[in-house]
Amino acid sequence: MTKKGNGNGNGNGRSMEGIYSFYSPFYDLIFGKVLEAGRRVALTYLDHSTKKKVLEVGIGTGLTLRHYPKDCHIVGIDISAKMIDRARERVARMGNGHKIDLEVMDACHMTFADDSFDAVISPYVITTVGDPTQFCREMLRVCKPGGQIIIVNHSKDPNRLFGKLGAVASPFFARIGFVTDLDVVDLVKHTAIEVRQVIDCNFFNLHKVILGHKPQT
Ligand SMILES: C[S@@+](CC[C@H](N)C(=O)[O-])C[C@H]1O[C@@H](n2cnc3c(N)ncnc32)[C@H](O)[C@@H]1O
Repeated sequence: MTKKGNGNGNGNGRSMEGIYSFYSPFYDLIFGKVLEAGRRVALTYLDHSTKKKVLEVGIGTGLTLRHYPKDCHIVGIDISAKMIDRARERVARMGNGHKIDLEVMDACHMTFADDSFDAVISPYVITTVGDPTQFCREMLRVCKPGGQIIIVNHSKDPNRLFGKLGAVASPFFARIGFVTDLDVVDLVKHTAIEVRQVIDCNFFNLHKVILGHKPQT
């Protein structure tokens, strides 16, 4: 099993809050197109069959919002109030059609009741939190039994050159907002999330769309 935390946070995400608040005015420019494939692929796997209440964890500036079906109720949280401000501006620009609620909240200590959402999705956040195992535990807790849990992220592959480079470079990347030495797929598989499929995308297939479920009780 890979290491549990990125060592770049205190578990309540405060240092990441500062980094992403700093990025907020130009986040879309840097991370918009670069991470778009993973967001788009993930949202195509969201079960669109019925009206859903979906939680997006670490919604950032809301770049995924356009990919959701119009009839779902989206709740987005982020540790950074400035990122949430940007997401609110985007919602205002989008106009009517979606029901969207945005809140500042720590993904590792969410205030939602157990079993609140039909689906929980989180693109490119798990390598930014201080305790990724607790992050998964919280996603499980707030998801309804049988609900979808979708995590998107780059994931260290110990057998590949990029994996080795990522391990060396991780302390640098941690300073700019994420770690590169976490085997996300392995970590998620060791939680109670029932992983059904892992789809490769983006940069040399280093990014993974992890399709999981909360087990039925
Ligand atoms: C790389 S960005 C991804 C944003 C968005 N999901 C996207 O696809 O563009 C990581 C986001 O996670 C947020 N974040 C970091 N730690 C967090 C935490 N503990 N709780 C909630 N959000 C967190 C950051 O503020 C930032 O908006």
